[in-house]
Amino acid sequence: MTQLTPVLSAHWDEKDSFTIAGYKRHGGYDAAAKALKMEPDAVIQLVKDSGLRGRGGAGFPTGMKWGFIPQGDNKDHYLVVNADESEPGTCKDMPLLLANPHVLIEGCIIASYAIRAKYAFIYIRGEVTHVVRRVQQAIDDAYAAGHLGKNIFGSGVDLELVLHVGAGAYICGEETALLDSLEGFRGQPRLRPPFPAIAGLYARPTVVNNVESIASVPAIIAHGAEWFSSMGTEKSKGMTLYSLSGHVTNPGQFEAPLGITLRELLEISGGVRAGHQLKFWTPGGSSTPIFTSAHLDTPLDYEGVSAAGSMLGTKALQIFDETTCIVRAVLRWTEFYKHESCGKCTPCREGTWWLVQILRDLESGKGSEADLEKLLDLCDNIMGRSFCALGDGATSPITSSINYFREEYIAHLTHGGCPLDPHAATVFASAKAGV
Ligand SMILES: Cc1cc2nc3c(=O)[nH]c(=O)nc-3n(C[C@H](O)[C@H](O)[C@H](O)COP(=O)(O)O)c2cc1C
Ligand code: SF4
Repeated sequence: MTQLTPVLSAHWDEKDSFTIAGYKRHGGYDAAAKALKMEPDAVIQLVKDSGLRGRGGAGFPTGMKWGFIPQGDNKDHYLVVNADESEPGTCKDMPLLLANPHVLIEGCIIASYAIRAKYAFIYIRGEVTHVVRRVQQAIDDAYAAGHLGKNIFGSGVDLELVLHVGAGAYICGEETALLDSLEGFRGQPRLRPPFPAIAGLYARPTVVNNVESIASVPAIIAHGAEWFSSMGTEKSKGMTLYSLSGHVTNPGQFEAPLGITLRELLEISGGVRAGHQLKFWTPGGSSTPIFTSAHLDTPLDYEGVSAAGSMLGTKALQIFDETTCIVRAVLRWTEFYKHESCGKCTPCREGTWWLVQILRDLESGKGSEADLEKLLDLCDNIMGRSFCALGDGATSPITSSINYFREEYIAHLTHGGCPLDPHAATVFASAKAGV
């Protein structure tokens, strides 16, 4: 069995893990002090060499993203940390911030120094008040300790770190919508190019990175690029947080090398709940095409998941057993996308509304088999034609579930509702018999 590799989560079980004292007891802030003695470009090179890829979903190489920031341009540069975390199933950044907010602050110091930013922002989802309080306290403590503000570590480097609380919109996790929201506008995606590296926050060169990406940097500086790249697979390096939720015996965060399989993670987490079998699962949140028990041995790295027809996304492994109705689960996800569609483009705004109507009919047994083709046709018109990836993501659960569970959709029509719901079958039989 592949062993867990706790790095980010190494001290989460200590009762003061979230305090500055608890963090420093394990060498916290030493990596920032070390990085500030290096040349900024050498820091970027080290992160490039480590092979760290963004943990926010797309897996873009972090060091390369930092390297896109133009240097010597006499402009302000900004670091923006994406702590919006609103994808259904995705639940790694909030536990990380609750258990150890200082590792993110230390990562911000290092990243800002590397890209020559004097201001950094953490954009956090509005609903998580308890996490907001914890991160703000950690920022206050870091200022008091001289790790933020003017002349940090006596190095002559300045950094102001601002925590910005969003209002709780999924679209504000999309990096350009996030930047608009941070500037005080309605959060809607921007046309690209220009990319944020050229014209991001306040039209200045900006790096947007996920919480886990930035939080992984202090360990890379402390232990070196080779240490990090010794974990994981050929193109997907390092350890990462896999979030297991749903019908699993011990749900939670499991930090393991990239490339571990669901079978191995289920062994570690006690397996699917007692007496039940795996039916379907998401490898990376609800926007990623679902998998079934046929994918238990798929390596959970960027390449392995993509070769099997899905995406690693945020490594949010939502586990569903045989008691779950696939149509109902997909309908609930689709209702989320319809609700969260920002309305900027027609395929997503109108398309998600129609997807919900058809799925509601199918779930209650009112549709017809032709509705499946209509659903697929709608998905075809949303996928690749939407302004941002929210629209694309909305189609993934539908197309993949029809691919694997077409019979279950049809069974809803023949049963007059969910075949897993005995009540629906009785009502249907009575209606047919005219009772
Ligand atoms: C609808 C939508 C929501 C997103 N939500 C998040 C989010 O909550 N957190 C996040 O880090 N990235 C999110 N992303 C991805 C970001 O646009 C961006 O790729 C990411 O923050 C880059 O960070 P990384 O390179 O460190 O992965 C979202 C993308 C889309 C299309
Ligand atoms: S795809 Fe949806 S969320 Fe994205 S811009 Fe279009 S309407 Fe807005």
